[in-house]
Amino acid sequence: MTLSLVLSALFACGETAPELESPEGAEPVAEGGAPAEVPAEAEANKLRSSASAVFAALPKEVPNPDNPISDAKIELGRMLYYERRLSRADDLSCNSCHKLDGYGVDNEPTSPGHEGQRGARNSPTVYNAALHATQFWDGRAKDVEAQAMGPILNPVEMAMEGPEAVMEKLSKIEGYRELFATAFPGEEEPMTYDNVGKAIGAFERRLLTPSPFDAWLGGDDTAMSEAQLAGLQLFMDTGCTTCHSGPALGGQLFMKLGQVRPYETKDAGRFEVTNDEADRHLFKVPSLRNVAKTAPYLHDGSISSLEEMVRLMAAHQLGKDLKEPEIESLVAFLEALTGELPTEYIKEPELPGQG
Ligand code: HEC
Ligand code: HEC
Repeated sequence: MTLSLVLSALFACGETAPELESPEGAEPVAEGGAPAEVPAEAEANKLRSSASAVFAALPKEVPNPDNPISDAKIELGRMLYYERRLSRADDLSCNSCHKLDGYGVDNEPTSPGHEGQRGARNSPTVYNAALHATQFWDGRAKDVEAQAMGPILNPVEMAMEGPEAVMEKLSKIEGYRELFATAFPGEEEPMTYDNVGKAIGAFERRLLTPSPFDAWLGGDDTAMSEAQLAGLQLFMDTGCTTCHSGPALGGQLFMKLGQVRPYETKDAGRFEVTNDEADRHLFKVPSLRNVAKTAPYLHDGSISSLEEMVRLMAAHQLGKDLKEPEIESLVAFLEALTGELPTEYIKEPELPGQG
């Protein structure tokens, strides 16, 4: 079935499907009598070129000129990512809330931190986060390096007393001094809190999850199903791309939750960072990569179904009331954004001074 037929079947449910296939309504026939591939192929290429104008395939890594990636830095960053001794009670690591074998989330509305305390916001995934223009729901950290220095000291997360306490604790663990020296060669004092952020940041810059959508963007016509392609077309036609675009399908803008129809939320969002009234209830548009795996949704984790989330987005962000088949179609597209986890890269390493 061609894409136009899937679309007309979706939206003209019950009616006779209009003949979008070819103006004459006849299958073009190639020499020798076999149906020509031309119309379907032309259509696929048209969709690919309009999609390429708004999205992009994932890169292999997200470079940062201020923090060049090296194998030694990644190795240290991976250890620190899994290091529970970076928390006051030695019980929490980054991986507690952002499980690398679980698409970078814990699937909880809010996450238990130090002594079981919970903050007000949902843990977003760490996969593909390096692509975002800023970090956190309100954009208060400029990049993954700066972000990584937050949770370790956050009293409801890992709750360390301060940067000095962190570095004192790490320097008492045999092995870390050498690992920092190798990761940051030529630095007079490589064991700094800044370098904790840089090592974890370097590790995160390769946490990318190529998906069927990337393969399709790259020219593989078989990578996505007809239903997923119809969903992509609808995603663009409905206007989701006003906010969810670029390689992460998000992560670039701050937008109001309730852009067209008001949406109830207590969280002031971006306003907490800028104190500008115009920023009240603005949140960073999240990436939609792996979204089928990262429920529950929104900054407060209040929505648990992807179908419901899509319905609410269309209604509150675009003022459109979607029908059930349209919601299913959009969800089919979102499922094509589920990527492959880098199983070797994320293997929990042996940590210094343990075992
Ligand atoms: C107790 C749970 C918890 C722990 C531990 C934790 N995080 Fe988070 N993380 C969160 C929550 C909640 C947010 C969102 C907070 C906000 O936006 O205000 C977040 C946000 C992030 C983001 C931003 C993603 C985005 O799309 O904006 C990244 C990246 C991240 N964390 C990485 C880390 C790293 C690295 C560590 C370890 C140093 C870590 N986290 C430890 C809960 C946690
Ligand atoms: C005007 C901008 C805008 C438009 C248009 C928009 N979104 Fe969103 N979207 C957002 C923002 C902002 C959030 C996060 C809001 C929050 O957490 O409070 C979001 C969140 C989401 C989420 C939840 C992701 C998560 O990890 O929590 C999904 C799924 C989603 N959007 C899909 C869509 C779809 C599908 C469309 C089109 C029907 C769409 N969006 C249109 C701005 C937009």
